[in-house]
Amino acid sequence: MAACMIVTVVFLLFVMRSLNNATADDQTTDKVPHTGKYYTCVNDTCVLTKFPLSEQINGEPNGSIDVCRMTCGPYGALWPRPTIKTAIKKSIIEFGLENVQFNLSSVADDLGKQYLTEASEVFLNSLKALCKPRCAPYANNPTVYISTTTPFDYLKWTTNERYALSIVTEGNKITVKITAQTVYGARHGLETLRQLIATYGTLEYGKNLVMASDVSISDQPAYAHRGFMLDTARHYFPISAIKRTIDGMGHSKLNVFHWHATDTHSFPLDLPSVPLMFKYGAYSAEQKYSYDDIKDLLRYALVRGVRVIMEIDSPAHAGNGWQWGKSEGYGDLAVCVDKDPWRQYCVQPPCGQLNPINSNTYKWLGKLYKDLVSLFPKGEAFHMGGDEVAINCWNTTLEIVQWMKKNKNNLSEEAFAELWAEFHAKALNAYDSEVGDANSDIIVWSSGLTEPEIIQKHLDKNRFVVEIWEDPTSPAKLTELGYKVIVAMKDVYYLDHGFWSPTNYHTWKLIYNTKMPVANKTNLILGAETCMWSEYVDELGLDLKVWPRTAALAERLWANPSTRSQAAEYRMQQHRERLITLGIKPDAIMPEWCYDREGECKLE
Ligand SMILES: *[C@@H]1O[C@H](CO)[C@@H](O)[C@H](O)[C@H]1NC(C)=O
Ligand SMILES: *[C@@H]1O[C@H](CO)[C@@H](O)[C@H](O)[C@H]1NC(C)=O
Ligand SMILES: *[C@@H]1O[C@H](CO)[C@@H](O)[C@H](O)[C@H]1NC(C)=O
Ligand SMILES: *[C@@H]1O[C@H](CO)[C@@H](O)[C@H](O)[C@H]1NC(C)=O
Ligand SMILES: *[C@@H]1O[C@H](CO)[C@@H](O)[C@H](O)[C@H]1NC(C)=O
Repeated sequence: MAACMIVTVVFLLFVMRSLNNATADDQTTDKVPHTGKYYTCVNDTCVLTKFPLSEQINGEPNGSIDVCRMTCGPYGALWPRPTIKTAIKKSIIEFGLENVQFNLSSVADDLGKQYLTEASEVFLNSLKALCKPRCAPYANNPTVYISTTTPFDYLKWTTNERYALSIVTEGNKITVKITAQTVYGARHGLETLRQLIATYGTLEYGKNLVMASDVSISDQPAYAHRGFMLDTARHYFPISAIKRTIDGMGHSKLNVFHWHATDTHSFPLDLPSVPLMFKYGAYSAEQKYSYDDIKDLLRYALVRGVRVIMEIDSPAHAGNGWQWGKSEGYGDLAVCVDKDPWRQYCVQPPCGQLNPINSNTYKWLGKLYKDLVSLFPKGEAFHMGGDEVAINCWNTTLEIVQWMKKNKNNLSEEAFAELWAEFHAKALNAYDSEVGDANSDIIVWSSGLTEPEIIQKHLDKNRFVVEIWEDPTSPAKLTELGYKVIVAMKDVYYLDHGFWSPTNYHTWKLIYNTKMPVANKTNLILGAETCMWSEYVDELGLDLKVWPRTAALAERLWANPSTRSQAAEYRMQQHRERLITLGIKPDAIMPEWCYDREGECKLE
């Protein structure tokens, strides 16, 4: 009753204000009044229409571009677009947030129910955020029935992420069905449902939630590894910034957060067995990730359909955090730390590289691995880095040069390559014996050691996965040899490019339009990642550099479309708007004038 009265009062206010404006509008009939936008779906595009009673239309669904786009075109505003079947009728229904019910009685097991209960809360919170400051009440009742068929398990490259979603409406009863094999498929269904909901109305009086009322979708991703990498060593990022990023990933159906946690610059992980690492390596006592932070983050991410893969880069890209070896009686664990002039000893300041001939290096690496891995699901992949070893650092360290002369009898390139490969073998051995698991996948960056001619000599294809960042011909060559690969080509996916010379900025369109590599053994190409190296970004610029570019990769990997970015531009724009409602601050991708006039800008 009270709601009814408010609506009436609001309506009267609109009419009164509209009457006052009538004269002004009449004089500018060929201009769309700026307060009164009204959209109609014509030929799969939302067309802006003149509407003289400008303020009244805020109270109608078609006043909202979000509502129009939701059901307009073959994929509505879905991002990434579904792959198997998409049928979204142009009919909508209002509903009340308080009326949304979940029925999880057909979820396979209790752990699955627990997972989907948490995922439902994430879903409801995102709706609450959507209609800030409050959602208007409606009598229509959506019930979301979720069913899964297999017991809960952790997210892996082999996880079935397929789902089907249907929305059927009879009277005021809205029935949403999500069916999937796994909870991760079901969660994707919820994410798609979220994208089939939009709002209209005014900030002042609360917003009305609207759902597409007649939908049938069946969907699954093309690639299993849909990732984003964040470097938290060049700059520290608070957990809140990481969580915000993971929110955007989940909403875009990206499923791997690759955490490049440490580097020569800093070591922000505070781990129980190796407390000195963080004490020597963090920028300050506050700029750290505690054991509990990491544990909490893993669940946070999983509930959003994201697995975390931890990287401890080695033997290069390691320095700060490792300086305590000598004073604690373990010898030098890292060499060349902060050595000057840096150009002679490493690829960027500060220098640092692990000491491969000190057995204590492996002892402490093992402890570090064990601390981390015990937080993760059994068998989770682990990233050991392995990139950009600067031989000159080792070749100018007296202890190592003497050891080389004694043990290898020379200081040649090949001899140092052997030393480098031995490092990986010993690090792997430390991992296996400390962690007690000799089956998990170990990821390394592509490097001199992963060249197709020599990789088989150094790295076992049953154990090592290669993340390729330089040579675009490597995915085909390495998969041919039987290696699993992840694609992270720097000239497309490195998000720091364009902010330092001589690199170029990669637009979302480049990321979208770059097809995945072709290979005979495509199934060994697991997927790809955008990489946010953080020399030139901290928490303040993070969202702008990551979004919406990383969402472009999300659709490339999910749908692997044969069409180009132009066909996806307005769905991308709508997805960007949704990311904003999640608290993310993505970069703009078109002028607002074009945003209002789909098809008139031809931006490509
Ligand atoms: C909104 O637009 C749809 C077509 O996109 C049309 O069928 C419907 O009648 C419009 N609703 C209102 C209230 O104008
Ligand atoms: C609809 O769009 C297509 C493709 O852009 C175009 O060829 C066709 O003429 C349009 N139809 C109308 C009625 O505008
Ligand atoms: C949930 O749905 C099942 C049918 O799938 C039904 O038997 C059950 O009564 C429902 N539970 C609730 C609480 O509505
Ligand atoms: C290592 O240093 C010695 C000279 O000190 C040099 O002869 C040798 O070529 C260097 N090795 C490599 C791989 O650069
Ligand atoms: C130097 O060491 C490498 C690796 O052990 C070996 O292949 C090469 O023959 C050696 N060269 C000389 C001149 O001894």
